[in-house]
Amino acid sequence: MTDPKKQQGSWVSGVNRWLSKDRSLGFRVLDLFCGAGGLSLGFWAKGFDVLGVDKSLDAARTYSQNLGPAKCDDLNNQTDFPFVDVVIAGPPCQPWSRAGKRLGEEDHRDGLDVIIRSVETIRPTAVVVENVPELGRSTGRQYLDRFKDSLHVLGYAVAEFELNANDYGVPQNRKRLFVTAVLGNEPLNKPDPWTKKIKVRQAIPSTYWRNSKQARMVSEGMSAYIERYEQASGCRTPRDLHIDRPSRTLTTRNLSGSTGDMLRIRLPDGTRRTLTVREAARLQSFPDWFRFYGSERSKFEQIGNAVPPLLARAVAESVSDRLIGARSDGERNSPPRPIPSSAVASATMRANRRRDTKPEIVLRSALHRKGWRFRVDFPVVTATRKVRPDVVFPRRKVAVFVDGCFWHSCPTHGQRPKANAPYWDTKLKLNKNRDLADTQALLTGGWEVVRVWEHEPTDHAVARVEIALASRPS
Ligand SMILES: C[S@@+](CC[C@H](N)C(=O)[O-])C[C@H]1O[C@@H](n2cnc3c(N)ncnc32)[C@H](O)[C@@H]1O
Repeated sequence: MTDPKKQQGSWVSGVNRWLSKDRSLGFRVLDLFCGAGGLSLGFWAKGFDVLGVDKSLDAARTYSQNLGPAKCDDLNNQTDFPFVDVVIAGPPCQPWSRAGKRLGEEDHRDGLDVIIRSVETIRPTAVVVENVPELGRSTGRQYLDRFKDSLHVLGYAVAEFELNANDYGVPQNRKRLFVTAVLGNEPLNKPDPWTKKIKVRQAIPSTYWRNSKQARMVSEGMSAYIERYEQASGCRTPRDLHIDRPSRTLTTRNLSGSTGDMLRIRLPDGTRRTLTVREAARLQSFPDWFRFYGSERSKFEQIGNAVPPLLARAVAESVSDRLIGARSDGERNSPPRPIPSSAVASATMRANRRRDTKPEIVLRSALHRKGWRFRVDFPVVTATRKVRPDVVFPRRKVAVFVDGCFWHSCPTHGQRPKANAPYWDTKLKLNKNRDLADTQALLTGGWEVVRVWEHEPTDHAVARVEIALASRPS
């Protein structure tokens, strides 16, 4: 396929070619908060098979009509994730964005927690998260660092970079923060920028500029308001779209809202018109074959929210280079791709209960019979991570884990399966690292931690828990 960086011919026909799929690499991608699929489209065009989840019905429809299966669901309720090679996500940016109230992690729309949950469950080879640069500044910084630490503890090499879409063939200045994580020690490289900067003219030729039947004219009153607004805000160059520059950042607000900040075209006679859906899509580098579903407002929302597909393609290229490299050179840099040895093993893993295992139930019943009251499935939020012990005594700050011999590598009964040994080595090592990190985080937070082995006699385990409880009067 043509390298977009060596662009020949018109940009519009190039976009239609660069963002088409000509082969499948056999790697699966799960896109959390997938929206219309701007981020997915870049991965899809690089040969990944994509599936998405989003709570918006219109966005899920756009995604599934253009790219692949999309589930319409609220991710806050999601605990079951499909087994994939790569997790990608562009969670809502309102918690951090300048336009929002910047409530950060207290905002119910914050999605980093769901991403960590999915990574813990799936253990994909690579993770890519996109958000506004504000996440890496002031209020967001500490939270972002905790997010990166959580990925690190799970065995990933984590990198963070800010990319401007205009450096990757998109006719728009749009700075976004990317956090990438790949299993192993070597972080993902920042994608190479294009040498050529694309301007609005290449996406919206001057013939379109004058007359587009689908566009709405900006009323005289609104036009006068825009001019007053710009004067009052000391704006030197009018914020109309300029044909020989990259566009300002497209947002849902400036595409669909009738505000002083709206994106609009100033016609030669001085009147103004809004952008059409297709023009907005082009400024985001969506190919013309990509169709959006829903009302006009909903389409603008999906477009304004999206990662520009050409930018996503550049990031996807770094991921595919790494995955293909790992597959072909014997995993020199990164641990093996975690694929269970067979469909049966995969089904067994999925069926394997994370909670309410028999040893847990036996221990809980024994403690209950002795009059102890406790919490189950109770998240303990520490300074560095959220931990979910199997049994929690919140007032006494005692956390109990019942560790299965296989999954937690018990020194007596832990075994390494012979089939697909490199996969199991990685998987079990990651479990061990997570156990250590959980214990460490709880101890640092002033908790008493009891780790009970699955094979431990119940009375012995109860006695150990009671010793811990006795040291912590309520
Ligand atoms: C910034 S947009 C994602 C854009 C997408 N990455 C793209 O490139 O097109 C965030 C998306 O998150 C979705 N969303 C917000 N909260 C959600 C939740 N709790 N569960 C599922 N989707 C959610 C919104 O509907 C929106 O489509």
